[in-house]
Amino acid sequence: MPPALAESSTLPYSPVEVASRFGTPTYVYDAATLRARARSLTGRGATIRYAQKANNNTAVLALLRAEGVVVDAVTAGEIHRALAAGHEPADVVYTADVFDRDAVEALHRHGCPVNAGSPNMLAQLADAGLEHLPVTLRLNPGFGHGHSRKVNTGGTSSKHGIWHEQLEAVLTQATSLGLSRVRGLHMHIGSGSDFAHLHHVCDAMVAAAEAWKAAGGHELEVISAGGGLPIPYRKGEDEPLDLDRFFEAWTEARDRVCAIVGREVELEVEPGRYLAAEAGSLVAEVRGTKTQGEGDDAVDYLLIDAGFNDLLRPAMYGAYHHLEVFAADGRELTRERDYVVAGPLCESCDVFTQGDEGVVQSRRLPVPEPGDLLVIHDAGAYGAAMASRYNGRRLTAEAMVIDGELHEIRAREPIDEQLRYEHIPDQLQ
Ligand SMILES: Cc1ncc(COP(=O)(O)O)c(C=O)c1O
Repeated sequence: MPPALAESSTLPYSPVEVASRFGTPTYVYDAATLRARARSLTGRGATIRYAQKANNNTAVLALLRAEGVVVDAVTAGEIHRALAAGHEPADVVYTADVFDRDAVEALHRHGCPVNAGSPNMLAQLADAGLEHLPVTLRLNPGFGHGHSRKVNTGGTSSKHGIWHEQLEAVLTQATSLGLSRVRGLHMHIGSGSDFAHLHHVCDAMVAAAEAWKAAGGHELEVISAGGGLPIPYRKGEDEPLDLDRFFEAWTEARDRVCAIVGREVELEVEPGRYLAAEAGSLVAEVRGTKTQGEGDDAVDYLLIDAGFNDLLRPAMYGAYHHLEVFAADGRELTRERDYVVAGPLCESCDVFTQGDEGVVQSRRLPVPEPGDLLVIHDAGAYGAAMASRYNGRRLTAEAMVIDGELHEIRAREPIDEQLRYEHIPDQLQ
């Protein structure tokens, strides 16, 4: 008998079908949601550059390319992924604070533009004979913002970007190094933003344009704004995003920059999670429940086959993800209980319901049986992209719903693959 279809009001697929076809845990992305998010940004007079660190599966990169979205890349590996997905080298901006040797080689081969986040990178570009590449400068505006201290992207406690007060010196350095196409400014707004903060960043960009003009010697052709487009992880609670206001603020900043430098300046926005997060969910299997303690102090645990190696955000940031339980056999789930939801890893923090400081929290959920399924919502960004093999786990399978059909876009990694590059020296045999 075919498995019963477990219906969800929000999911565009059956978790039971996902589990039976691909096993668990499996990430599933909805092509229609990815397209809808892309289309909500394009056609507003800005280049949309997807920060692929959020989700660098090549199927996702190919879908976004078809929507007219270009990409960034933090490593040679991400350049490779973008090109494999059909992006043109000129459309892939290598953006980093550290220029490693793999990246030097990739830039030699493909000639991608660079977004430099450290003064040393400019000298290293010149040393590598890459003075001709188009360069933007990632500035640290001196203040930051983020949904957690760990993602704060500005101020002295952030390693990111060139300190804003060093801009003129760095432009002078670029001239003396012979960098011929230093052409733009980038600032990261911080992930999950508010408008007071956004205006602050826009003003910092305008101030940087003044410093650029004062330094002379390089044409400012583009300003680029990273992040700053949050998604509502807590449905019905998080403030809805006002995209019109976001673009109005940046268009106005761009116009001010144009007036300062006396030429047309292109606007680029660089979201990651906004494009990918809501399109993805992680389907896991419930493997058991257990109770620690007795009486009023007792804590009920719901144990699933996904761990922080598959989805790190709760363990890393105390991030919240909406959870939903589905009966594998389609029966009605009538009872509820408060559960701490935990995974299989040998780490106490392998918990999907925890707060900022790692304090475990309970969540009211239907009482499942082993074999039922738990879906972790809004996991399309910083999910599979951050997955690891910790505890000898296999990298998770990924699937995509395209026109109502499920397609595998990454097979679950075979266990043997883990040993492929390891060697036991003869002396130890
Ligand atoms: C340079 C750059 N741009 C864009 C982003 C995207 O941020 P988010 O995924 O929050 O939109 C990041 C994230 O860290 C980043 O480092």
